[in-house]
Amino acid sequence: MSAGGTLVVGSGFVGTGIARRLAAGGETVTVTSRRRPGHPPDTAGVRWQALDATDAVACERLVARLRPRRVVLVHGPSDVTWCEDHPDRAAAAHTAAAANLASAAGDARVLMISTDNVFDGSRPANAEHTPVAPANAYGRAKLRAEESLLDTATDPVVLRVSLVYGHEPADAGKWLNFFAACAHRLLRGQPVTAPYDQWTTPVLVDDVAEVTAGILGAEGPVPRVLHLGGPDRVSRAAWASVVAEALGAPPQLVVPTPRAGTRYASRPANTCLTSSLLGRLPSTEAIAVRGVHEAARSLATAFAAAG
Ligand SMILES: NC(=O)c1ccc[n+]([C@@H]2O[C@H](COP(=O)([O-])OP(=O)(O)OC[C@H]3O[C@@H](n4cnc5c(N)ncnc54)[C@H](OP(=O)(O)O)[C@@H]3O)[C@@H](O)[C@H]2O)c1
Repeated sequence: MSAGGTLVVGSGFVGTGIARRLAAGGETVTVTSRRRPGHPPDTAGVRWQALDATDAVACERLVARLRPRRVVLVHGPSDVTWCEDHPDRAAAAHTAAAANLASAAGDARVLMISTDNVFDGSRPANAEHTPVAPANAYGRAKLRAEESLLDTATDPVVLRVSLVYGHEPADAGKWLNFFAACAHRLLRGQPVTAPYDQWTTPVLVDDVAEVTAGILGAEGPVPRVLHLGGPDRVSRAAWASVVAEALGAPPQLVVPTPRAGTRYASRPANTCLTSSLLGRLPSTEAIAVRGVHEAARSLATAFAAAG
């Protein structure tokens, strides 16, 4: 049934990055969300379409009309704190969207961006073979959605991604990623309070998009579950210090604090991912995922220039 193009379900921070990368490679991309995004992808080859992915009929109709050859699931709810407060709604939304798109997609490859929160955080790092044990409602919702996709789709891929970051403009209002929130506060001379006891393997949104494009374009079968983390394992406080250094901000603006009592309290202590499989996939093995120092230097220029 597949004719062409990629359907990206979710037009937020990660979905927009993936849509831009695919369009830059010549793909026709349709990004979807319930509401028109405030910063729509301004790239030729990307168009926006309204869709509530929890509506099975709407998913069937859209897929029947577009006949995409690939589908990327990168929709919300993505706010860990909101999911903790609304666990049933979070699980219902993620599971319904995965099931709806998996059954509508026919033989199209369906790639879901999942999360390191499917692990309990007790290990320093988690590979594809590490047993899952979600520590919070967000992780439980994403794990159920993973299971639904893997059970239902003809050609499913779950790509679990560590904390994603990249540039967001100063006027975005609410910054969706930790790096951007740090950078904008530091550039204004404001302090950044960050846990010294919550560890992540941050990955640049451009690198997530590059790896996603590689997996979508892979010939033949792909491992059903893959991990993507950056090469550096850092605490949020240490990472904020890297951002401060790259921006030339005073280091004392970064205030290390314990995770308990902060908005990160419901996150696992270690949201770190490694992969034993991604480097063996011919279409992704040559992708150099950037570390936090290299990325901070290049992003600092963008933040200082564009705000
Ligand atoms: N950001 C990260 O660090 C990270 C790391 C690992 C995994 N992920 C995963 O990647 C996904 C997206 O993350 P993000 O940071 O890009 O989130 P985001 O910026 O909050 O974007 C979420 C997008 O999903 C849309 N959406 C929500 N409910 C929908 C529905 N029922 N139907 C269609 N679209 C819907 C939202 O628009 P509307 O509300 O207007 O519909 C929005 O466009 C999440 O599933 C998250 O688990 C993110």
